[in-house]
Amino acid sequence: MCGIMGYTGYEQASPIILEGLSRLEYRGYDSAGLAVQAPVKTTEPPPLQVAKACGRLQALIDKTRGGADLPGSCGIGHTRWATHGIPSKENAHPHISEDGCIAVVHNGIIENHYDLRRELIAEGVEFRSQTDTEVIVHLLSKACSNAPESEKASIIGSVLTRLKGAYALGILFADEPDIIYAVRRDSPLIIGCINNGKQQISGIMASDIPALLPLTRQVFYPEDGHIIKLTTQGISFYAYNNDTHTVTNVTKSYGDPVTLTLSENAARLGHYKHFMRKEIEEAPQAVKRTLESGLTDPDNPFFTDGALLASVQNIRMIACGSAYHACLVGKAAIESLCRVPVEVEIASEFRYREPVIPHPSHTLTVLVSQSGETADTVAALRLCKSMGIPTLGIVNVQGSTLAGEADHVFYTPAGPEIAVATTKAYCAQVAAMYLLALQLGRAKKVLSADEQEKLIRELTSVPEKMEQLISLESDLCRLSQELASARHIFFIGRGMDHALSMEGSLKLKEVSYIHAEAYAAGELKHGTISLIQDGTPVVALVTQPHLLHKTLSNVAEVKARGAYVICLTTAENILREGGLALSDVADRVIPLPATHPCFTPLIASVPLQLLAYHVSVARTLDPDKPRNLAKSVTVE
Ligand code: F6R
Repeated sequence: MCGIMGYTGYEQASPIILEGLSRLEYRGYDSAGLAVQAPVKTTEPPPLQVAKACGRLQALIDKTRGGADLPGSCGIGHTRWATHGIPSKENAHPHISEDGCIAVVHNGIIENHYDLRRELIAEGVEFRSQTDTEVIVHLLSKACSNAPESEKASIIGSVLTRLKGAYALGILFADEPDIIYAVRRDSPLIIGCINNGKQQISGIMASDIPALLPLTRQVFYPEDGHIIKLTTQGISFYAYNNDTHTVTNVTKSYGDPVTLTLSENAARLGHYKHFMRKEIEEAPQAVKRTLESGLTDPDNPFFTDGALLASVQNIRMIACGSAYHACLVGKAAIESLCRVPVEVEIASEFRYREPVIPHPSHTLTVLVSQSGETADTVAALRLCKSMGIPTLGIVNVQGSTLAGEADHVFYTPAGPEIAVATTKAYCAQVAAMYLLALQLGRAKKVLSADEQEKLIRELTSVPEKMEQLISLESDLCRLSQELASARHIFFIGRGMDHALSMEGSLKLKEVSYIHAEAYAAGELKHGTISLIQDGTPVVALVTQPHLLHKTLSNVAEVKARGAYVICLTTAENILREGGLALSDVADRVIPLPATHPCFTPLIASVPLQLLAYHVSVARTLDPDKPRNLAKSVTVE
């Protein structure tokens, strides 16, 4: 959830780190900090230079004059999403040892920090923050003074044996100039490498790829528990042996760095005001690439492996947030097109409820995650694997934990998603669900080759229809002005429309802070309808022909109680033929292009995302960084 970044090389580190952190700010934005080794080489190592500021990263940039106040070519930085302790200067990272000679930045959670804190306090350590991270710096400091001659990698290894939880760390020692140590366990960390060919190497560590893109395309994905030493001569990887308390250099096993194919612009705002708006516009292309990848790319054999798919008897999908909503769409599509039973579960519930899985080896578990790092989804994956259940990860971020650990992986090539609220990655996840449905239906002979081909043809026309909807933006913008002052908004729909209404409601509430609730349209009158009064906005999704009249009855019920109804529908024509104008039942109508009913959630998600975006802007909020939220939820 926090962003960490480190640089050692031949340039000034602070501006590079601040730029990198600005590309990671979607991970946390309540405070930020930097620690840089001073450039003056004296016999005594100078203490580390440290700056911290509360609030957005810009406050730190202003405070340090763009980093000019912290000169030096080796440093680490952090942008925080508070877990332990309020957002404050004291709680901001880096955390510094009492003698000022060790600095640590951390993303993740140290679960046993209370015990460690108690132990350290009993030994006379004075804590300056409420964070879990501070224990690490004190443990390192103690280990260094107990074994001053030991290699730092081995000291770090011994401290890691004391920590429980998830972490990615960047560590600086004042007495080891131009060196950064990095380590990860269950938290994302990418190592970048710049080799300018004159034996001058620069090393970079970051929580996510966007931070590295302006600097390098050459990266390593470090293994869990390995300790990485970044120097200006090269990058080394070490494994720590708990029994012998020694480290082994395992650099050879990493081979050459992986070359990223992403362009630098993939994570740039360009002429857009917000990433969320840019990413909504990128959604049709993300869907198109996902479909191409699943249908034709030989590197994605999962969707074309008929024998594997034919053996699947039932499916369990596990995810969080919007990815969970994508799974609900997937369930409806798979059950309707393939008649294969699908259960969908929230990862944080699944992992603690002692699940009973009747036929583990015939149950395909699909874990869906944009980041591939969501702590609960990763834990659910491990639980499934421990029960011998085959797993498929549908993941957007290359090299992420989920992608590395699932038995099969399908990458949704949506590209980097920077806005905290997912848009294009959600659409790509839904597209992946359809691929699974179509290939499964074919493999299980529920769909004939003709039927499958017809559906694929229809599905590949969806990105164009999504693009058409972006041109409705001015109407949605006007509508958002009307909704901006609402206190509560309801989203209703049946079947697939219910799954979509859950996503529409989540998107709106997270970026606009308006209370929004999704309801199965037929369930409303069992209680919630009491909240409908004069002017309450109700967004009704009416895209499923077989449920059309049922949903319209529910729309009429809320209308009769004064609701202001906004109807998104593919059914205008059907209604007109039946002698009914939608304007008879709804105050506002957003017509959607016709497609196969299973595919309407993809099309309808565009206006819902645009609506949420514009309501947020109309309320003068920052849709890219909603309060209290962070992208990539690496804590449970
Ligand atoms: C909502 C949103 C979140 C994520 C959820 C799962 O707009 O972005 O609900 O969908 O935190 O994240 P991933 O997909 O990274 O596992």
